[in-house]
Amino acid sequence: MANMGRVVGISGPVVRAAVSFPVRMFEIVRAGKEALLGEVIRIRGNTVDIQVYEETSGMRVGEPVEFSGELLSVELGPGLLGSVLDGIGRPLARLREEGLYISRGANVRTLDESRKWFFSPLKKPGDSLRPGEGIGSVPEGTRIRHRVMLAPDSLQGRVEWVAPEGEVSLQDLLCRLEDGREIRLSHRWEVRRGRPFSHRLPFNRPLLTGQRILDTLFPMALGGAAVIPGGFGTGKTVTQQSLAKWCNADIIVYIGCGERGNEMTEVLEEFPSLMDPYYNVPLMERMVLIANTSNMPVAAREASIYLGMTIAEYYRDMGYAVAIMADSTSRWAEALREIGGRLEEMPGEEGYPAYLGTRLAQYYERAGRIRTLGDPEKEGSISVINAVSPPGGDFSEPVTQSSLRLSGAFWALDKSLAQQRHFPAINWQNSYTLYDESLSGFFRQELGEDWKTLRFFLSEKLSKEKALLELVQLVGRDGLSEQDKWTLNLSELSRVVFLQQNAFDSADAFCSLQKMKGLLETLRSLDTLVSERLAQGVLFEQLAEVPFRTGLFSLRTIPDPEFSSSARKWLSEIQETLRSIEVVVR
Ligand SMILES: Nc1ncnc2c1ncn2[C@@H]1O[C@H](COP(=O)(O)OP(=O)(O)O)[C@@H](O)[C@H]1O
Ligand SMILES: [Mg+2]
Repeated sequence: MANMGRVVGISGPVVRAAVSFPVRMFEIVRAGKEALLGEVIRIRGNTVDIQVYEETSGMRVGEPVEFSGELLSVELGPGLLGSVLDGIGRPLARLREEGLYISRGANVRTLDESRKWFFSPLKKPGDSLRPGEGIGSVPEGTRIRHRVMLAPDSLQGRVEWVAPEGEVSLQDLLCRLEDGREIRLSHRWEVRRGRPFSHRLPFNRPLLTGQRILDTLFPMALGGAAVIPGGFGTGKTVTQQSLAKWCNADIIVYIGCGERGNEMTEVLEEFPSLMDPYYNVPLMERMVLIANTSNMPVAAREASIYLGMTIAEYYRDMGYAVAIMADSTSRWAEALREIGGRLEEMPGEEGYPAYLGTRLAQYYERAGRIRTLGDPEKEGSISVINAVSPPGGDFSEPVTQSSLRLSGAFWALDKSLAQQRHFPAINWQNSYTLYDESLSGFFRQELGEDWKTLRFFLSEKLSKEKALLELVQLVGRDGLSEQDKWTLNLSELSRVVFLQQNAFDSADAFCSLQKMKGLLETLRSLDTLVSERLAQGVLFEQLAEVPFRTGLFSLRTIPDPEFSSSARKWLSEIQETLRSIEVVVR
């Protein structure tokens, strides 16, 4: 018999109930006559406050509240990939199908009972089975082998029986242990509780993004966390979509917290139409989309990031690299603020509850690169890439500040760059990474000793440009030396050709590390060639006709295998052109 309480107050998504029995923090309840799903968020004596995931209008004082004794959990199993879920794990498609989209108290299973999966056993009778270890697998999508596992919080056991190879569905028994326990395709996990792993691994491999500015200047580690703060229209969504498509993660969990009313609708339309550039199948095959549309109650938004994280951990535990993205954390924090306000808590900075940082930490600390519990030979990771939309683009506000304290890479989007249509509008002066040191070994091995020098070449030109532009303010361009005039020109070329990258141009949307290196080498050789001629007396204005920009632009889109020969050819043409310029005797 479930414990029953009574509604004593209702304030939007927060319902207060009187109880005469012990209650757990975050316990799941069914509130009111319509049995709306909610979660206990505060306990004070015999009064508890509940955040309800559904519209509470119509609920009355005196109605019953049923306490389940359980915490919010999600069913984990095959079929999560490709699905679009609401903040508490109900598939939108089926809510809609069953006409429950707006009706309340709907109990819709996350996974589809009617789907069939082809099971291949890995274990046989007599084998021992560790927590989190696989008993077999089913293919999910074209590429993912979904491991069917013993839940990681269970005790070790010994296999008595395993299902033979063949078609199975959610209700089928797949394995029985000698102690009588049964394993099926799915198991449940509480969303606010991190799934265990064997041990953490260092941040010494990169999450490659294919975005030149990121991988070159501000690389991020696999298992690390990056924040993308930026005002409206600066490119948060486009950047996250590019990363979803191009980063070297196997699986993407995308949590949308719509900014404007229709933005989530756009996301819901766009993602399913994106193609996976690596495998030429829909990107959704290796993606889970969690959608908080603006007509959903704020409490579900609060829970959604933990739901997403739990799904990410589940695939991590199979040995995959998962990237989880939230767009935007600010909308999530607003949900927290609204609920906090209803509880009449003492507000912290800018009205956010004092526990904003703690709640965010409970999300970020579940990222990482690890060895899995079920198979300590296997490596898995969760990399976090969160967008933040600070009001007025002011990075000193609490959500941006809390996020940057919890993450290692800060990719600051800049309104004025976006206005100049410099995309991605990542500000190279304000952005930073803390993963440089730990990734240096990987880059040295992959790209050689010279990589460090090439990065330095680029960042030095960019900072030189800043200093020169300040000088120009004082003396004008004509007051600069010939070499400085060229340095200004070269840094502009570096910005336009290297830092800018068009997400919508199929030849440019992704850039390999090898090509990034090749482009930087080309820029450096160009610098040497031109500087030599300037030293011999050629004037900067004599270079006006040399097609630096068009040449570099076309190199940028040359396929990788032809890149070095094309670059060499172009540089020798430039060298010829430069030689043919005569030195004017002054
Ligand atoms: N990498 C990019 N390449 C080309 N255009 C971009 C890029 N990033 C942003 N944009 C442009 O900026 C617009 C706004 O970007 P969006 O991601 O929607 O901003 P936000 O999510 O920050 O409000 C896009 O519609 C697009 O025109
Ligand atoms: Mg956006």
